[in-house]
Amino acid sequence: MVVGRHRETKAVIDLGAIYHNVAEEKARLKEGQDLFAVVKANAYGHGLIQVARAAKQAGANGFCVAVIDEGLALRQAGFTEPILILGVNSPIEAVIMAQNDLSVAVGDESFLREAAPVLKQAGLRLKVHLALDTGMGRIGFRFADEVKSVVALLGQLTKQFVFEGIFTHFASADSKETSYFNKQVALLNEMLQVVSPKPRYVHFANTATAMWHSELTGNAIRYGIGMYGLNPSGSQLTEPGTLRPAMELVSQLVAVKHVSAGAAIGYGETYVAKHDEWIGTIPIGYADGWSRKLQGFSVLVAGNYCEVVGRVCMDQIMVRLPQNFKLGTKVTLIGTNNGHTITAQDVANYAHTIHYEIVSALTERIERVYVWKN
Ligand SMILES: Cc1ncc(COP(=O)(O)O)c(C=O)c1O
Repeated sequence: MVVGRHRETKAVIDLGAIYHNVAEEKARLKEGQDLFAVVKANAYGHGLIQVARAAKQAGANGFCVAVIDEGLALRQAGFTEPILILGVNSPIEAVIMAQNDLSVAVGDESFLREAAPVLKQAGLRLKVHLALDTGMGRIGFRFADEVKSVVALLGQLTKQFVFEGIFTHFASADSKETSYFNKQVALLNEMLQVVSPKPRYVHFANTATAMWHSELTGNAIRYGIGMYGLNPSGSQLTEPGTLRPAMELVSQLVAVKHVSAGAAIGYGETYVAKHDEWIGTIPIGYADGWSRKLQGFSVLVAGNYCEVVGRVCMDQIMVRLPQNFKLGTKVTLIGTNNGHTITAQDVANYAHTIHYEIVSALTERIERVYVWKN
C-alpha cells in the first residue's frame, strides 16, 4: 500500500513511551528473566523496526512475531536477538527459518517429521518452541502423553532441531475471574512434569499474565500490549505501573462548510442536519482502518468533542462542529487535544471491540511519524 505522506492524517508514535513501558516491565522482572517484545502485525500498528529498536534500547532480549516475513524484516534490519515465530508454519519453510536463525512454535509432530528430511538435506538445524494448548484451543499439544512423545522425537532428531523452548498461552489472564486461568495452570503443570530437562526458554506470560500472575512467568515473558501503553484488561484490572500510550492519531480539518437545517450528510442520507450547522471534513476513512462502526463517535477539534455525522467513507469522515473553524485546525482521533483526551480504549468501547484491534487495524496508508518524548 502507498503511504499517504502528503496527507494531514498521521499516527504519531512516541518511542520514548515504548522505551518507558519496556524499561518499567523489565524492572519488575525477576533476576534472569528475559523480555521478548511482541512486535507482530507491524508492532500492533506502531511500526515494526522503530518499535523493535526502542524496545531493544530499553532492554528487550528478543522478539516475537506472527509470520516468517516479520522475522525476516527484523533480521534484514540487523537484529541479532532471538526471534520467535508464534504462528504455525508449513514444514516447507523450515529451511528459510533455519537459515535466518528464526525460532518457531511447533504444535504437532507432523511438522517435525516433515521438516526433518528437508533440514537434513540442507544441513541446517531449526530452533523450536513446543506450544502447549492448556485451554486456549488454538495451537499446541493438549495432553501430557503427546508432550512426552514429541520430546522423545526431538531427542532422536537433534541434528535437525534445537529444542529451545516450551510455552503456553493463557486465554483469560486479563480477567478478574480466575477459575479458567487456574484450570490452565493445572494442565500446564501436568504437561511440564514430563519434560526433563527443560529447554532454555520456558515462557507462559503475555502482558496480562506478567502483570497479574507474575508467579507464573517462567524465565521469559512475551510482552505485547503493555509495551504500547495499553492495559490488556481494558479497565477491568489496574495495571501495576504507569503505562504511557505510545500512539496518537491526528489529522486536520480539510473542508468546513455551513449547511442549512434539512441538509443530508454522507452516503445513504443517514444524517440530516436539524439546525443550521457547521460541518468539517477530515481525511481518514475505513480504508485507513477507521471503522464504519465509528459513525456517531467523536473526534477532538480544538479541544471540542465533535460527533462523526453520516457514514464513515473510505477516505474521509464528516463531523459536526460547534462553530466555524479555520482549515488546518488540528483534529485528534486518539490522544489529547486542548486538555481533552480520547483513548484507544474509548474508540474500542464505541466500536464494541478491543483496543488491540483499533491500533493494529490502522493501515499502512496512514503515515507513522516518530517522536521521542521524555
Ligand atoms: C502467543 C502469544 N503470546 C504473547 C502475545 C502478546 O499478548 P499481549 O499483547 O496481550 O501482551 C500474543 C498476542 O496475541 C500471543 O499470541
